[in-house]
Amino acid sequence: MKAVRLKTEYLKSPVGIDVQRPRIFWNCEGGKKQTAYRIVTEKWDSGKVDGDTMRAEYPLTLLSRERVNYTVTLWDENGVEGEPSTDFFEFGLSREDWRAKWITGDYTVRPRTRYPVDCFKKEFTVTKNIKKARLYITACGLYQAKLNGKKAGDFCLAPGYTDYNKRVQYQTYDVTDLLEKGANAIEIELADGWYRGSIGAWGRRNQFGTETKLLAQLETEFDDGTAETVATDGSWLWSCDGPIRFADNKDGEVVESFREPSYTGHAKVTAHGVVPSASNNVPVTEHERFSPVITRSPNGRQLLDFGQNIAGYIEFHISAHLGQRMVWRFGEMLDENGDLTQKNFQLVTKRRTTPLQKIEYTCKEGQNDYKTTFAVFGFRYAELESDIEIKPEEVEAIAVYSDMEETGFFDCSSALLNKFFAATKWSAKGNHLDIPTDCPTRERHGWTGDAQIFFVTAAYLFDFAAFSEKYLCDVYDWQKKSGRLPQIAPHGGVDFYMNVMDGSTGWSDIGILYPYRFYKMYGDRAILEKYYCKMKKYASFLISRCGKWGGPYARATGVRGNAKKYIVNCGQSYDEWAEPADVKSFHWTDFAAPHPEVSTAYTSYLMGMMIEIAETLGKTDDLPLYREYRDGCKRAYRSLVKTPAYSLDTDRQARLVRPLYMDLLDEKQTEFAKARLIKALENYGWRLGTGFLSTPLILDVLTEIDHEAAYRLLENEEIPGWLSMPKNGATTVWEAWEGPDSKKGGIGSLNHYSKGAVCEWLFKTMCGIRIDSENHFTVKPVSGGSFMHAEAKYASIYGKIESGWKRNGGTTVFTVTVPPNCSATVILPDGTAYKQSAGKMTYEVK
Ligand code: BGC
Repeated sequence: MKAVRLKTEYLKSPVGIDVQRPRIFWNCEGGKKQTAYRIVTEKWDSGKVDGDTMRAEYPLTLLSRERVNYTVTLWDENGVEGEPSTDFFEFGLSREDWRAKWITGDYTVRPRTRYPVDCFKKEFTVTKNIKKARLYITACGLYQAKLNGKKAGDFCLAPGYTDYNKRVQYQTYDVTDLLEKGANAIEIELADGWYRGSIGAWGRRNQFGTETKLLAQLETEFDDGTAETVATDGSWLWSCDGPIRFADNKDGEVVESFREPSYTGHAKVTAHGVVPSASNNVPVTEHERFSPVITRSPNGRQLLDFGQNIAGYIEFHISAHLGQRMVWRFGEMLDENGDLTQKNFQLVTKRRTTPLQKIEYTCKEGQNDYKTTFAVFGFRYAELESDIEIKPEEVEAIAVYSDMEETGFFDCSSALLNKFFAATKWSAKGNHLDIPTDCPTRERHGWTGDAQIFFVTAAYLFDFAAFSEKYLCDVYDWQKKSGRLPQIAPHGGVDFYMNVMDGSTGWSDIGILYPYRFYKMYGDRAILEKYYCKMKKYASFLISRCGKWGGPYARATGVRGNAKKYIVNCGQSYDEWAEPADVKSFHWTDFAAPHPEVSTAYTSYLMGMMIEIAETLGKTDDLPLYREYRDGCKRAYRSLVKTPAYSLDTDRQARLVRPLYMDLLDEKQTEFAKARLIKALENYGWRLGTGFLSTPLILDVLTEIDHEAAYRLLENEEIPGWLSMPKNGATTVWEAWEGPDSKKGGIGSLNHYSKGAVCEWLFKTMCGIRIDSENHFTVKPVSGGSFMHAEAKYASIYGKIESGWKRNGGTTVFTVTVPPNCSATVILPDGTAYKQSAGKMTYEVK
């Protein structure tokens, strides 16, 4: 038996983490059951540890820069010792070891002016034989570093996105192979990025500061045991006359490729009040590449169709003459004439049009090699205005996203559902760029609601642990004294009037939903321990809203007596948000008013989670309070739905799905709500009538009532319905059910993953894969609808589990593959249950 898929703190061979006692994770290959493991490093030997756990903590305190090479050896069910597997992890730079100084360009910043990219350079000589070299680097802004002309590391848009005034994350690159004995040069470009460039729906700028700055420390160790450091300081050369004349994440780049930076000035030393911490997240890297089909659009411009809507940028290699120009614009769709349009995501005001998603490129004589450095666009199409005729082989689109391991695969007999699944995966890729975003075009905000809705789906599709843990830091970086959490994290680019929405039900609740779900998917108690105090504070904030009446648009609920104490009827929130217009038309008080139905429901539901978390951690003192509010809010909810305004006798599916999913109703109400939900679906032609919050929940609720009802809704191809998107040509998930068809009321982003959260159901119900404890799964597939087969594969934290079924005449054959060292309880639709250990089994049900 062999340890495979080795990771440290969910990262593959990480260089430069700052987790003091990192945990090593592995999976088993060959054999049935691990009976013991042993980990050996230079300084530590675990000895032979009996048991089947596939994780262990490195027990020694790591030193600054320390690299730990380790081997993991396993013993199988017969007590046979397997071959060792090797890997490593490396600690970053301790706070006190930063010698570098923050540097900036030598100019006085005027906040309204946009500046070209700053170019910094340092030359140095290496006289000894190099053993190893590391570059520790970060920026307030975005940096790209080159050593002797070659890019250091593969991180795009580094150092990623945080609230730079609270936390700046640095990267560590192994640059041993980029250095040479003799003369060397390090050149670093610095752009505005999220720090100073445009962010959010309105393209607001200077959200974290006006002065971009850079911090870099290059450390080289030699064969003779000595070391040298080159660190940013006032001796670094600087100029801002390089080729990138303008760079903005959303707007794009202006490039004059014939330029070279003169480096005639010097960097200015500055300061930043935050000591950087290591980015313990997966890097943002380049992925799939697409070649275009090129045609002429009706307006005469060159139109490139890359066939897939992505978030990323382009690379081209062309031969041209000095001064020839190219203007590229990027978008997700074509207008009614067949020309590229950016209308569906662009905000146009008197002062600004945002985002521009544009590249203006002026050629040098001869070969022009270009790849975008400091921008990412959401696009499938590009339009090129130029007298240069581009050929398909000269240009490629490159998808850029956080480098999470792909773990979830699904296939079934419905081509449309397969396409919807692929679209969801693409939307997930396009919206996970160091933070989870709503869309990669218009807002690009870390909307907490979208992120929490999608967590479980994301965790089936990808190893989402390191990424989501980093995002949880972003969320809690903002937490206020009252315990309140933000609607958007990092919290930038939002107009002041939106600040009242922080604390919004279903959005800010991510503070409890994320760690709870993380714990369930990764069996990782540490996340609960780490965040318990903060979650507790958020729970107090939720409790503080109970029984309060407030806000200019609050209306009496009609609930009386003791129940009133637990109704949440204050603060502003988004309500269910974005239900189809014919189910509930949008009114601006949808987010200017309190929403007692949604908020009281979520408060009870979250208190239930807090009870489970407190029990897991042994925080028994906290239980009575959480129990009081879980049950109190439940009682209040039962009273609320007796009032006419919140009656269960409604066609609004969300109003029925929510209490059923959260188990809020008494028996009689439950029976009524179930029947009423079926009637609501009948009345709506078995189309989907939920909004943001309940769309991921409705199939679970229907499965409880009658799984064929869930299938009927899933298979609906009409608008609104999941399959209507691929039916209408979607390659990513749309924000509006109607998609780009403005005549039908649709428009908005074409890459908004939240509705794809239904994919969670494909894994956990249709194919029935659920993790229920360490090394153990429940596999309870539910076959149904007109599907002839379905199959899911999930490389879980404990190994790859597979479950599928195939209908054959009157029989259905279920196939389940359990990874080594794991077991599963397989429950078939006829109610029979089996215990299965590692390996593949088939079961037949007539
Ligand atoms: C975003 C959403 C977000 C919502 C908040 C929209 O503009 O695109 O995805 O959650 O606002 O209501």
